[in-house]
Amino acid sequence: MQLRVVTIFPNFFDSCLGEGLLGKAAGKGLVQIDAVDLRAYTDDKHRTVDDEPFGGGAGMVMKVDVWDRAIADARAALPGARVILLSPQGETLSEDVARRLAREKALVFCCGRYEGVDERVSAHLVDQELSIGDYVLTGGEAAALVAIDAIARKLPGVVGRSESVDTDTFTAGLKHPQYTRPATYKGWETPAVLLGGDHRKIAQWRAEQAAKRTGERRPDLLGRVLAERTRLTLVDPPKALAALAQQAAAAYGLRELAVCVTDGDKRAQWREKAQAPQRVYGPLANARRRWKDNHFVHLAAQSGPGQVAPGEIARQLVDETGDITLTWGISPPAGALIAAPVLERQPYEIIGLFAWLERVFGRG
Ligand code: ADE
Repeated sequence: MQLRVVTIFPNFFDSCLGEGLLGKAAGKGLVQIDAVDLRAYTDDKHRTVDDEPFGGGAGMVMKVDVWDRAIADARAALPGARVILLSPQGETLSEDVARRLAREKALVFCCGRYEGVDERVSAHLVDQELSIGDYVLTGGEAAALVAIDAIARKLPGVVGRSESVDTDTFTAGLKHPQYTRPATYKGWETPAVLLGGDHRKIAQWRAEQAAKRTGERRPDLLGRVLAERTRLTLVDPPKALAALAQQAAAAYGLRELAVCVTDGDKRAQWREKAQAPQRVYGPLANARRRWKDNHFVHLAAQSGPGQVAPGEIARQLVDETGDITLTWGISPPAGALIAAPVLERQPYEIIGLFAWLERVFGRG
């Protein structure tokens, strides 16, 4: 991947980009990064990049014409590149955003200074603005470095084993605790399970610890963590319900929307149209046999026995380490482990389902 940073401080990037995994990635040719001096695109002897704001006020504003020339040069050098202005006004960087940007052929990072960049740069010259969080830096340089690091480690070959990128913090909630030799230090012990060599138990312990930490420290991430392990199952649903559930499953990031179609002919038609994350199965009883290790939860549309208190569902699900199958419909399939309480004042089945999904997977 080719990266260009346009900045008034090109030296800022020298040491950071030459060190560590990023340095190695550059050495292997996986990323090529060049830092270009914005002042090279000025046309006066003082190499001026900013001017006073129209309308008055404190601070200087970076000039649109200088940025125009710099960006035109970057686009010519890196055809097809996505051009990004670092700014607190932009889309917030996240693992998802990093993953998406890592699929671009080339990226150009334009480092503004915080006091301001002429609005016409973001309106007409760049493809997007990107922020690294809700705080203010003196300029975009540190933000560009953060973004480059997060994006570059998504590229194949940059991080040694791609497995460690997949099991990273935020891909599946916060990471589990880790230990290395010595097993005991100053009386501080390593949990015995990690020393026992039982890989199934270790995996289970790690999953439990990760879920516990995420719940305690970042409850806002829980919905996401759950969604990645969850299949929502509808049995012979009306088309409208299935279409909306498909949208919801994609929006919440559910692993699968399983549509069980009892009638063989109709099933073939559903299969032709199904798009990820939807998959089409035969009768629920058969599908359930395939998912036998799952934790089953029936979200109730009607009152019934064994229902748990509202708000408990997500907590109970988080404590589960394996895959989760939610079923939705009028009659709970035999063996459902939790019957969710009826949502009051949700007279329509479709609204009821969406109210449930929002309770369990909604963020924040
Ligand atoms: N420039 C100043 N603050 C910033 C931030 N939070 N993200 C990106 N660029 C910035």
